[in-house]
Amino acid sequence: MAIQIPRGTQDIMPGEVEKWHFIEETAKKICRNYQYKEIRTPIFEHTELFQKGVGDTTDIVQKEMYTFDDRGGRNLTLRPEGTAAVVRSFTENKMFGYANQPVKLYYNGPMFRYERPQAGRFRQFVQFGAEALGSEDPAIDAEIISLAMELYTRLGLKKLKLVINSLGDKESRIAHRIALINHFKPRIEEFCSDCQNRLEKNPLRILDCKKDRDHELMHSAPSILDYLNDASREYFEQVLKYLTELGIEYEIDSTLVRGLDYYNHTAFEIMSNAEGFGAITTLCGGGRYNGLVQEMGGPETPGIGFALSIERLIAALKAEGIELPIKDNVDCYLVALGDEAKHKSMVLLQQLRKEGFSAEKDYLDRKMKAQFKAADRLNARYVAILGEDELQKGIIMVKSMETGEQTEVSLTDFIEQFKKLSK
Ligand code: HAM
Repeated sequence: MAIQIPRGTQDIMPGEVEKWHFIEETAKKICRNYQYKEIRTPIFEHTELFQKGVGDTTDIVQKEMYTFDDRGGRNLTLRPEGTAAVVRSFTENKMFGYANQPVKLYYNGPMFRYERPQAGRFRQFVQFGAEALGSEDPAIDAEIISLAMELYTRLGLKKLKLVINSLGDKESRIAHRIALINHFKPRIEEFCSDCQNRLEKNPLRILDCKKDRDHELMHSAPSILDYLNDASREYFEQVLKYLTELGIEYEIDSTLVRGLDYYNHTAFEIMSNAEGFGAITTLCGGGRYNGLVQEMGGPETPGIGFALSIERLIAALKAEGIELPIKDNVDCYLVALGDEAKHKSMVLLQQLRKEGFSAEKDYLDRKMKAQFKAADRLNARYVAILGEDELQKGIIMVKSMETGEQTEVSLTDFIEQFKKLSK
C-alpha cells in the first residue's frame, strides 16, 4: 500500500493554498498597520523551554509534546506554541534593550501537539500570533485584542464572540487559589485523576477540565473576579474601558482560565458563533504573561499576546459561507501552432513574465482547440495566437476572452501593445 499522510496532518493543495496566501498577506498588512514586526524562531527548541515556559502541569507539556533526542543526545521538542520561544528569543537577543519599546512581534508558522485529531484539531497546525513585550499599559491589552479581531473582521467574519476574564496579579491569584483548594478538597475524590493531581499543583486548571465540567462544584466554584485586589480590578476595568471605546464587544466569563500556565491579568478567547462550526468553537486565545520573561532568565518584563490557527480561521470562513476574493487567473495564454511558432512563443512568454504578467503556454503539443480549452481552464484574460501565417506576416492575434474582441498586433511591438490592451 502507498504510504499515507500522518494522522492529524494535512496537505494544503493548490486551489486551497491560495486562501492561505490571502490570509497570511492580510495578516501581514494588519501587522504593518499595527506596527508589529515578524520574528521567526526555530521549529524545535530545548524541551526545557516548554516545561518552564508553558508549565509542567499543563496538558500540552504532560501529554502533547513531540519530544525526541537528537543524535547528539540533546532533548528537543517540536514547538507546541509560539510564546515561549518568543520570550526565549527576546531574552537571548536582549530585545529589552531595544530603543523602541514595547517590542511588538508577530509570527506565523507550524506548531505541533499530539492531540486527538478531530474537526478543527490537528497534530500539525499553523499559528499566527502576536506578542507585545515591555508594556503594562491596559491600552496594549486592548491593542492585542483589537489586532486579532481585525484579522477576522477584515476577512469578512461576523459571527464572533470575544470572551474575556482577568486572572489577576500574583496576590489575587494566591487568594483565589486557596479558595479553590478549600472548595474542591472535601470532594476531590469525585473528580478525575487529572483534577486530583491538579488540586495542589494548579487548582485553577480544574475549572478547565472537560471530563468534570458538569460536576456541581464546578458551577459553585469561587470566581476569580471576587478575589481580584484593587490594582487588578482597576487594570481589568481599564482594559474593558478601552475595548468599549474601540467598539469591540465582549462578554466577561469568570470561568475562562486558558490551558497554559503563564497567564495573569487579562485572558481572552475569540469564538465563532456560526451555525455548524462544530464542537470546537475557539478560534483564538491569548492573554497577559507578566513574569514569564523573568522566569525564563530575563529581566522583569510584562507581556501580552495571542495566537490563532489558520485552520480554524478557514473553517470559520467556510461556516459563514465567505469566499475570499482570490484572483488566480492567467493574463495571457500563448497558443502556438507549428515548430517555429513554438520557439517564438517561448521567447514571448519569457518577455511577458519579465514584465510582471502571469503567462502560460501549451507544453503537450495540443491542437488549437485543446490549447484554447486549456486557456479557458486557467481563466486566461487574453489568448495570443501565433501560427505559421502570423509568423510570416510578423504579427500575432490577441483575443480578449472576456469580450471576444481580436486585435492584430505587430510581433516586434507585442509586449508594449499587450501592456496597453490589458490595462
Ligand atoms: P492556545 O490556546 O493553546 O494558546 O492556542 C491558540 C490557538 O491555536 C487556539 O485558539 C486555536 O486557534 C489554535 N490551536 C491550538 N491547538 C490547535 C490544534 N490542535 N489544531 C488547530 N488549531 C489549534 C497558545 O498557544 C498561546 N501561545 C497563545 C498566546 C500567545 N498567549 C499569549 N501569547
